[in-house]
Amino acid sequence: MTKITAGPSHPSRYTAVGPVAGDADLLAKVGELIADLSPDNADLLTAFHRVQQACGYVPGEAIPVLAAKFRTTPAMLYGALDFYSEIRTVPPAQTTVEWCSGPACLFKSSMNIRRVLESILGCQMGEKTEDGALGLRLVQCDGTCHLAPLVRLEGRYIGPLSVSDTIKLARELKGEEAREPGPAAGEEAEETQPSKRSVDEREGGGEA
Ligand code: FES
Repeated sequence: MTKITAGPSHPSRYTAVGPVAGDADLLAKVGELIADLSPDNADLLTAFHRVQQACGYVPGEAIPVLAAKFRTTPAMLYGALDFYSEIRTVPPAQTTVEWCSGPACLFKSSMNIRRVLESILGCQMGEKTEDGALGLRLVQCDGTCHLAPLVRLEGRYIGPLSVSDTIKLARELKGEEAREPGPAAGEEAEETQPSKRSVDEREGGGEA
């Protein structure tokens, strides 16, 4: 009978990662940002947040620097990045519309809001437009359900949104003339009033 014995632990996990090619200034900047952190997983999220705050996202070039600091592999870090949806690995859009996927918003037909945003802005949820000007991001409920269905835009909470409100908002963001869905071309246009939309401005109400 073959005796099964435990082999050596996987050697790659704590193999130091050597320097890689990349923007020297960026690599130095990342090194400075994490210099005071402990090479312990407890500080990893802090490192991600610091890099994202400084660069707008966590660039791929920063990963080997972080891996060396935290004595792990780039693959392990990419796994952590996948888990923390607040951390971006690509540059964000210039303007990102955050769509709440929480239960109160869904109950109040937020899927219709999402469809309008994706259609008019021209990108799917979690993506950005080709020119990088606009993006859509799925977020969770943060307790502002009295405004459901809502979106968050640059720290503002906008809701309750109707479909026509959303069309107007999306067209404003696209730089198109904001107009209610109206009669077809050639028909006489009637004057319409935009429906009431409450906007709750909050200090620090942006990204976590
Ligand atoms: S479910 Fe959307 S804010 Fe609570």
